[in-house]
Amino acid sequence: MKDILIDCDPGHDDALAIIVALANAEKLNVLGVTTIGGNQTLAKVTKNAQNMLHFLRAEIPLAQGQEGPLVKSLATAPEAHGESGMEGPYFEGADYPVSQMNGIEFLHQKIMQAEGKVAIAALGPLTNIALLLKSYPDVFPLIEKIVLMGGGISHGNQTPLAEFNIYVDPEAAEIVFQSGLPIVMAGLDVTEKAVITVAEIDQLQGRGRVNQLAYELLSFYNTSGRQFGFIDSPLHDLCTIAYLLMPEIFTGVLCDIHVITDDSPARGVTYGDFRRAFTLPKKTLVLQEVEREKFVKLLTDALDRLDAQEKSI
Ligand code: RIB
Ligand code: CA
Repeated sequence: MKDILIDCDPGHDDALAIIVALANAEKLNVLGVTTIGGNQTLAKVTKNAQNMLHFLRAEIPLAQGQEGPLVKSLATAPEAHGESGMEGPYFEGADYPVSQMNGIEFLHQKIMQAEGKVAIAALGPLTNIALLLKSYPDVFPLIEKIVLMGGGISHGNQTPLAEFNIYVDPEAAEIVFQSGLPIVMAGLDVTEKAVITVAEIDQLQGRGRVNQLAYELLSFYNTSGRQFGFIDSPLHDLCTIAYLLMPEIFTGVLCDIHVITDDSPARGVTYGDFRRAFTLPKKTLVLQEVEREKFVKLLTDALDRLDAQEKSI
């Protein structure tokens, strides 16, 4: 059993990552969930997290992190995730409890209280994680690794060069990548291969309560993806949880990743030195390939497992 913390900006793919994490409770012990302004405002992504945790009948502590990035102002992504940040399903008003503690203090407390090392799954801009590392250096020996969805070596999605999570807060991302902690980077090079097809989405309809939620989430997300040229839907954030559960379905390369933080067209670029003679510490595993079918089966098995639990209640 691995203790993990999930920092997220739900977000359709964030929501699916939370589902798979909770469905594998025998392997992943989610100590807490924190939210960060990203896909939508902090208030909206927190509401979405509340709705998800309430829907899943979870009893996991939830706290709000930062409204926006360290330096610039927040630019949300309604074009991708809708005005609510998680358009598609209808959620009854859920008053799932939100800690009064600031998300950064919350992360610190959960890490210090954990029995052993904790892995962090970062599914949005890295503001909360950067502030955690800068504010509480005593967490360093207690963090096993940070598995983050962000960046891309070959291309971007928010700009031609930069991926959304990194582009929102490149200053925070540079702090995290240069922290010296073990990082697993699930960037666009792998996440755009981690796709679910329209046919696979259609098979979720009517299979059960949780399957139906995933169908409604993915139906909106798939339609939204068409404007960006996608036919199948990349499940970006799910790659982090999938790596924590089944690292063997991924391949990648170790590298030292930096982030461009100036105001040039390259702002938010993640770049690495892959030269053979490169001798600096290579602290980031940049994921490049994934066994797609096994990846999707992780999601469909999780949905069926949660629906089976529903039936057994
Ligand atoms: O670029 C993809 C990332 O941006 C994902 O985390 C998605 O949820 C959005 O936040
Ligand atoms: Ca996200």
